[in-house]
Parts: sequence; structure tokens; C-alpha cells
Amino acid sequence: MAKMEVKTSLLDNMIGVGDMVLLEPLNEETVINNLKKRFDHNEIYTYIGSVVISVNPYRSLPIYSPEKVEDYRNRNFYELSPHIFALSDEAYRSLRDQDKDQCILITGESGAGKTEASKLVMSYVAAVCGKGAEVNQVKEQLLQSNPVLEAFGNAKTVRNDNSSRFGKYMDIEFDFKGDPLGGVISNYLLEKSRVVKQAGGERNFHVFYQLLSGASEELLNKLKLERDFSRYNYLSLDSAKVNGVDDAANFRTVRNAMQIVGFMDHEVESVLEVVAAVLKLGNIEFKPESRVNGLDESKIKDKNELKEICELTGIDQSVLERAFSFRTVEAKQEKVSTTLNVAQAYYARDALAKNLYSRLFSWLVNRINESIKAQTKVRKKVMGVLDIYGFEIFEDNSFEQFIINYCNEKLQQIFIELTLKEEQEEYIREDIEWTHIEYFNNAIICDLIENNTNGILAMLDEECLRPGTVTDETFLEKLNQVCATHQHFESRMSKCSRFLNDTSLPHSCFRIQHYAGKVLYQVEGFVDKNNDLLYRDLSQAMWKAGHALIKSLFPEGNPAKINLKRPPTAGSQFKASVATLMKNLQTKNPNYIRCIKPNDKKAAHIFNEGLVCHQVRYLGLLENVRVRRAGYAFRQAYEPCLERYKMLCKQTWPHWKGPARAGVEVLFNELEIPVEEYSFGRSKIFIRNPRTLFKLEDLRKQRLEDLATLIQKIYRGWKCRTHFLLMRKSQIVMAAWYRRYAQQKRYQQIKSSTLVIQSYIRGWKARKILRELKHQKRCEEAATTIAAYWHGTQARRELSRLKAEARNKHAIAVIWAYWLGSKVRREYRKFFRANAGKKIYEFTLQRIVQKYFLEMKNKVPSLSPIDKNWPSRPYLFLDSTHKELKSIFHLWRCKKYRDQFTDQQKLIYEEKLEASELFKDKKALYPSSVGQPFQGPYLEINKNPKYKKLKDAIEEKIIIAEVVNKINRANGKSTSRIFLLTNNNLLLADQKSGQIKSEVPLVDVTKVSMSSQNDGFFAVHLKEGSEAASKGDFLFSSDHLIEMATKLYRTTLSQTKQKLNIEISDEFLVQFRQDKVCVKFIQGNQKNGSVPTCKRKNNRLLEVAVP
Ligand SMILES: Nc1ncnc2c1ncn2[C@@H]1O[C@H](COP(=O)(O)OP(=O)(O)O)[C@@H](O)[C@H]1O
Ligand SMILES: [Mg+2]
Repeated sequence: MAKMEVKTSLLDNMIGVGDMVLLEPLNEETVINNLKKRFDHNEIYTYIGSVVISVNPYRSLPIYSPEKVEDYRNRNFYELSPHIFALSDEAYRSLRDQDKDQCILITGESGAGKTEASKLVMSYVAAVCGKGAEVNQVKEQLLQSNPVLEAFGNAKTVRNDNSSRFGKYMDIEFDFKGDPLGGVISNYLLEKSRVVKQAGGERNFHVFYQLLSGASEELLNKLKLERDFSRYNYLSLDSAKVNGVDDAANFRTVRNAMQIVGFMDHEVESVLEVVAAVLKLGNIEFKPESRVNGLDESKIKDKNELKEICELTGIDQSVLERAFSFRTVEAKQEKVSTTLNVAQAYYARDALAKNLYSRLFSWLVNRINESIKAQTKVRKKVMGVLDIYGFEIFEDNSFEQFIINYCNEKLQQIFIELTLKEEQEEYIREDIEWTHIEYFNNAIICDLIENNTNGILAMLDEECLRPGTVTDETFLEKLNQVCATHQHFESRMSKCSRFLNDTSLPHSCFRIQHYAGKVLYQVEGFVDKNNDLLYRDLSQAMWKAGHALIKSLFPEGNPAKINLKRPPTAGSQFKASVATLMKNLQTKNPNYIRCIKPNDKKAAHIFNEGLVCHQVRYLGLLENVRVRRAGYAFRQAYEPCLERYKMLCKQTWPHWKGPARAGVEVLFNELEIPVEEYSFGRSKIFIRNPRTLFKLEDLRKQRLEDLATLIQKIYRGWKCRTHFLLMRKSQIVMAAWYRRYAQQKRYQQIKSSTLVIQSYIRGWKARKILRELKHQKRCEEAATTIAAYWHGTQARRELSRLKAEARNKHAIAVIWAYWLGSKVRREYRKFFRANAGKKIYEFTLQRIVQKYFLEMKNKVPSLSPIDKNWPSRPYLFLDSTHKELKSIFHLWRCKKYRDQFTDQQKLIYEEKLEASELFKDKKALYPSSVGQPFQGPYLEINKNPKYKKLKDAIEEKIIIAEVVNKINRANGKSTSRIFLLTNNNLLLADQKSGQIKSEVPLVDVTKVSMSSQNDGFFAVHLKEGSEAASKGDFLFSSDHLIEMATKLYRTTLSQTKQKLNIEISDEFLVQFRQDKVCVKFIQGNQKNGSVPTCKRKNNRLLEVAVP
């Protein structure tokens, strides 16, 4: 929405006319009315072509916000309503983009808003130009130079509470990118008379009041000041306080600004000391003192103030005191001292104060320039801002006004020159015929003032330098002679008698017809002010000051540099500086801001037509408009022109295809605008009369209304149609959805009913089949039952017949009948259920058994007889069979195993079997013998030559040959003996010699005894009374007891056919010679390890300790 409100031309929503070139009719009244109308609507800016007229609103308007800056940024000058920002933007852009140096010339009378305008321009440029820390510092310094200069150079006047009392021109320097680099300030003619005297209702320069209000007690003490305005003669009392101005706060602002600009602390201090000195100078008073020669000599009334000034400035008090009392004139190498009277002393004092202050001001400007000057040497583009005093017409106009107005005259000159030049250049550029423009050229007035031979300033200088008595009157006389014939010079006493009777022209005055009106100047003070004299004694006293700043301000006081030539007069100085300024401005592209003050009351909303009329006149605004529209009042580039008016012609609306110029031609032809009213330039159309433009505007407005209606109509139609189409589309979509939904629902209904019917039918069919099947089954069952019954009946009938027959016949016949019956039953058994079970049982049993055997075939364990594995039993009823089968299998595999044996092996096993039968489970030693093979002849007597004799003595086959321990019958100790068993005998031989010790025939052996324990002791009992038994029974111990006992048993059996008695008991009796000794086996202690020990306890007991 906000975007749509952006104006695209100055002509839109215009109050009055934004550009006064368009005024119709053009006269003073319409110009003022237009300004008033716009002023009343808060439009304080109005254009005359590219010149901005600004009317001071005396209140803050919301038109300088950052948003406004953005609005005007990079917009064409005529695109938006008139604004100072538009001009600033135009200037800045052509500086940046077209490389043209710019100057902004701000004119207008005191209080019209020039200084504010210059600040606005600077702040706008600061806002739109480059950013960055360095650039910002430069900007800040440039902007902060204002408060410093305003404090020292501005004062409250009746016109303006913050009136600039000096002319200021500031060059802002930019680099090629448009970033600010620095600046240079030039100042012109400070109104220094204000330092010592102010008109009623006015004030001295701000800084004095600011210092006294804002300085700390400490600072005031240091400066030897008191916080009381009334203490100082130089400060007017009636308006020391200004409404809405806080001097104390401003003092802080200024000091802060000074710091930002780059003043050192000691510099600030020095400056304030000079200010204090000036203030205190005003308090020095003089009194006359009669001298011998009858002349009055002035004396300082109260030396206290002087003393303080001297302390503050480091001047020798006597030097200064002398400078106020004497004046030294040097002529022809002679020094002549004259005394000063009181009036001269006061004049000297004031001159010193004025000079001190104005030189301080110039020093400040230079010091600021030093800070803000561009640091680089690169080529710079320059934008100059000129804020200079405007025309001043007071009741009493003096030298200052004359100078000021001269300056304005010069500015007007360059304004005319540049405006015309620009206008002319544009015409040539655009290839439009140049028509001569009638306008007033003020060069003639400038000439009147500045002509080197007979100009007013030259005359004044001549008077000032002339020897003899020189007064303001002699100066006026001179003027009357020289300038009398000049058209713009008026004087009562001139040779020309035109004004002889003009009472409005007093005798002591002359009048100049400035381009902006007539000004009456009082000649009084012209000579003095032009001379601007400061007695040399004073400047020398100042140069001698200990205060470095003051010393530097008075270089001419240095006696080494004494210059007898008079310094240039104020008038010639000013003329020279104005000439330099003009030269400077001419090289730049000018931009004008002309300020107008709407009332004298500094009040908002008041538009004093008389006052404005006066300003309009002397600013030459009417002239300005005339020059501007001398040829053509209005011009516009073809593109925006065509864009703005294309709707007025069918061929150009809505789009024109060809070049814009052709479009505009077609447009103007179509509208039948008279050909003399416009002219085609290269890029612009020039319109001679504003009326034509307004006609175009009216037509445009009318046409826009029609177009708006048309657009509205089309839009409404389009909107309705779109709405309708949307509704139709929605309707179709809805219908489609609904139909789909309805069909879906119907389909689902049909589907579910079909399913119900289907299931009913299927159920019905199934039941029917079931019924049929049941019927069929019943039929079959019935047949069986009937058959059974029938057979039963048959059988019973037969039986009863047979029974009957039997009763009648023989018993055999009865049996026969039974047999027959059973035969019949057997035959029909299959028809009876009773037999099925048995048959199935038998069959099943048969099958199980069969399966069992078949499985067993696969599961039989290995053939090893010691293999303990046997498959588990599958059925309980096969338990006995399974066990039986196991034993059968075992026996069979044992047999199989045995069948492999050789005869010898058989013998060994027979022996082992015999041992098993004899000792198994009886003797604890037995199990350890099972694994040992029975070797029999352990001692290989045949082979060992040691036993050759023994071998030779025995002829029979040796069954056992082994070393045993024979237990000594008397003490139980043992001796080794070779134990030999042959087929018929038992022999004992010495182990070493092999000599036979005893020989017992087997028939004499009756019994063998041994313990049940794990020992190898055994006793061989002999037949009583036999030859061998003379010594008694033998008691041995052997490692192979089981084998020995077994072999002894077997040999005895085979030889004697008698079973040898083997007694196994832990207590048995043996016959030792005559004694029967009991051999007792006890569980011995482990003293001797695992070897059993034998001990004869007494003649009845022999104890064997078994481990
Ligand atoms: N554009 C403006 N908007 C608001 N007030 C303004 C404007 N221009 C000037 N003024 C007011 O007018 C006073 C005088 O303006 P100033 O620029 O000092 O005048 P000049 O420099 O022409 O003597 C300012 O102090 C301010 O109060
Ligand atoms: Mg000003």
C-alpha cells in the first residue's frame, strides 16, 4: 500500500505549484500566494527549476527522518515533492557519478534558515555516502566542527537566536567512490564589533555565556572569572538568557565537539584563557588625569583587573599598562610617543578585545581545518557549502552591511551567470534555438562597488591612506564627486541634482540601488572600520605575552619583523577574499537554496506577506523564474513524458512500440497542441507555456478517472467471472464425489446381499448333500444290519433246526452241528466286529515283534565280550525277551571270542578261570592278579648258567620257578628261596647257590592257607608224618601268590586226582615241628610302608601285619 502512494512526479498531488516556473500568471502576488499556500500546508520547499526555495517553519517538521532520506535517495529531482534532500541528492550524485565538483549556495536573510539548511545538506550527504570506521570518523569530525564554530561565531540577534555572525564556506572532499576524505573551511568577516557592543535585545557571542554558565568552579577560578554575567561590561544584560537555550549544556556539547574534532586539552585551555582575557578586558576602566601640558592623560582606574589579565596571559603588567596610555608613531626612523586620552584609551581597549577575539576565531578555523583536512593526496572531488549572510537592510546600515550586501551582489552575479550559462548550454545540447532573454544584469552594481579606479571600496581605501585629516564626511564628498553619475548611486550632495530635494536621503548618507532594492548607508564609521586599526604598542605587548596562543595571534608585534607598510584595509581584504570565492564557485556546478523568513517573531505558522514580499524581491525570485522560463517554462525527457501522458492518445496507449520521441510527437499532434507551444530537443520536450502543461495535466487527470472506471469495470467483471468459474468447478467436483460415493454405497449393498443369498444357497445345497449322504449311509448300515440279522436269523433257524435234529439224532450229530456252526461262524467272522480286535491285536503284535527284531538287527553292539552296551527295551511286554536276547547274544559273542583262541591260550584262560573260581570274591589280592599273565618259570633256569647245577638236578618239566620269601618259623624273618614246582614235586633251592634245600612230593601237600586280605602270605601244609613234614609246614610270601596257588592246585589235581584244599581265612593254624602256631593277620600300622611284616609273638602266635 505504501508503495502505491509513492509519487512518481512532482506534479502529483501538488499544493499550489511545486515548481514556480509553472506559475500562471507570473507576478509577485502569485509567487507569494503560492509560497503561502504551500507554507500553510507544511510544504516549506518550492522549486524554481533546480533552485530550492525554503521557507523557515520555525518548528521541527517530520520531514528529515531516515525514512525520508531513503525516499529521496537515488531519485530524480522532479520525481518527488520539493525537498532540500532532493537537491542534496542531485548534487551528491552528480559529484559521485559525473565527476562534477559541486557547490551549494545558501542565501537568505538572517534567521531565514541558511545555517539549518547547510546542516541538513551535510547530514544528508553524511547519511548517503560511504560507511566504515574511517569514513565515519571523517564525517563525525566534519559535523562536529559546526557546534564549535557556532559557539564562537554565532550570537543571539533580534532576527535569530542563533545567528551566524560570520560567513562560512566549507569544501567537503570526496574520493572517487564518493566517500568523504576531509574538508576545508573558509570564514569571512566575523562581526567583531559585537564583542564590545551589542544592540538592544541582542547578545555577545554564545561562548561567553556558555563559559560562565557551564564551566566548573575550578575552571572559573583558574580563569579568574565569576559566574555572574553582570560582572562583565562586555555582556549585555537585558537578554543574557535565551528561551529554550541551555548555555551550560551547550558548553559541554562544545567541549565534547572540540575533543572529537581533535583539539588537545592544553589547546582548549588556551582558547578559554583568551576568551576570559577578552571578557576581562571589558572591565578595564580609565579615568582622566591632567598633565602639565594641559592635555588629559588616561589612567587605569582599578589595576586589579589588569593584573589578573596579565597573570592569565603572561604579559608584563607594566608593558600592557603603558600600551593603554601611550601611542608610539614611527615615521622616518623616528619614534614619537604621544599620550592617549580617555576616549582613545577606551578605543584601544576595544580594538584589542575585537582583534583578540576575531584572530582567535580565525585561529580556531585554521585549527579545525588542520584536523579535518584530507589525509591522502589522491585526486579529490569537492562539494562546497556556502552559508553566508544574506542581504541586510537595517534602519542604520553601516560598513558591515555594505560589505555583506556587496557579497550578495557578487553572489547574484554568479547566480545569473551560471543559471543563464546552464540554460544556454541545455538549449545548445538539446539543439533548440536560443532566444535572447531579457533580464537584469547586476554587473553594473558590482562595478560601482569594486572597480579598482573609481569604485566605492577603492575610494574608501584612498581616503584611509591619504595624508591629512580624513573623516567619514571627506569620504562621502569624494563619493559624491566620483560616483555621482552612476545610475545606481544616490546622494543628496552629488553633482547631479536629481536628489536635491529627496528628504528620504539624509546628508550623511549615500544610497545604492542594489539589485534587490535600495539601501541607505550611514557613512559614519566607514573609515575607522575599514582601517581596522590596532595600535602597534598593543600588538607588541601581545606578542610579548607568555601565552603561546596569544603570541602567535599577533605576529606583527614582533619588533624584528616591523613593517611600516600599512596592513591591507578591511574592505580590500574582503574584496580579495570574495574574488577568490567567486573564482572558486565558478569552477563548480552550483546548486541554490534560497531561504525565506516568514515572520519577524521567530514563530511558527505565521506568514507575513509583506516581509516575504520584501525578501522575494531582493532575492530576485521573480527574476529567477523569468530567467528560467525565458524560453520554455517546462522541459522533460521524452521517456517520462510519454510515460506520463500516453493514456491521452489511442496510438500510445497502452504501449508505444517506437522511440519515445516519436511517441511524444504523435501524442502532441493528436492533442492538437499548437506547434509554437513546444519544441523538440534531442532528449527532452520543451514546453513554452505552463498553461499547456496544466492542460495536459487536466486531460491526464480526466483520462485517469476514466481509466480507473474502466479498470474497475474490467476488474469487477474478471472477479465475478473468476468467482463463477470457481463455483462451477467446485460444483463439478462435488457432484463427481457425490456420485462416486452413491455408487460405492449401492455396490456395497448389492455385494453384501449377494453374499447373504449365496451363503443361504450354499447352506441349503450342503444340507441337501448331507441329507443324501446320511441317507446313503443309513441304507448301507441297514443292509449290514439286515444282512446280519438275516444271517443271524438264518443261523438261529438252522441252529434250532439242528437242535431239533440233534435232540432227535445222535450226539455226534450234535457235535457235527456245532462244528458246522463254528465253521459257519469262522467263515462269517469277518462280518462280526468281535473278532476284529483280536485279529488286529495279533497282527499288531506280530508287526511289533517283527519291527523289534528288525531294529535289533541294526542295533546290536560290538562283538567285544566286555562291551556292556545293550539297546534299551522298546516295549515293556518284551522285557523278558529283551533280557533273554541279551544273554543269548552275550553267550554267542563269548563263544565267538573263545573260538579264536589257540590251545595255549585256552590253557592260560583255563588257568585264569580256575583262579577265578578259587579266589574271586574270596581273596582281596585276586583282582590285581587278573590283569597279570601267568608266566610260571619266571627264573629262566635253563638259560641262566648260574643255575646249571640246579637244572641238571631236575629232570621233570618246571611249572613254576620263582623267588619267594620263606618265613623263618622261629622268628618270622624271611629268607629268599627259589620255589620250583614240577609235575610231581615242590622244590626249594638256595637263591645264590641254586642248591636244593627241600623237596616235597605233591602227594604230601595237604592244604594251602592264606588270608582274605591283600597280602602274598601263604602256608603250605604237609601230610603229617611224611618225610618232608619233619620240620613243619612252610610259610611263604610271594608276589605271585594267586598264580602259585592256582598252579599248585591244578598240578595236584592232575597228578593225584585229588582236589587240593585251599583255606582262606585271616586266622589259621600251622604245624611248626611240634607246635601248632596260629598265624594271625591283623590290620597293621603303616610303619613299614606297604610291605607286610611278620613277627613271631610267642610260640603260639605269629602275627602278620597287613597294611
Ligand atoms: N528547516 C527548518 N526546520 C525547523 N526550524 C528551522 C528550519 N530552518 C530554520 N529553522 C529555525 O530558524 C532558526 C534560524 O535558522 P538559521 O539557520 O540559524 O538562520 P540563518 O542561518 O539564516 O540566520 C533556527 O534556529 C531554527 O530554530
Ligand atoms: Mg546562520
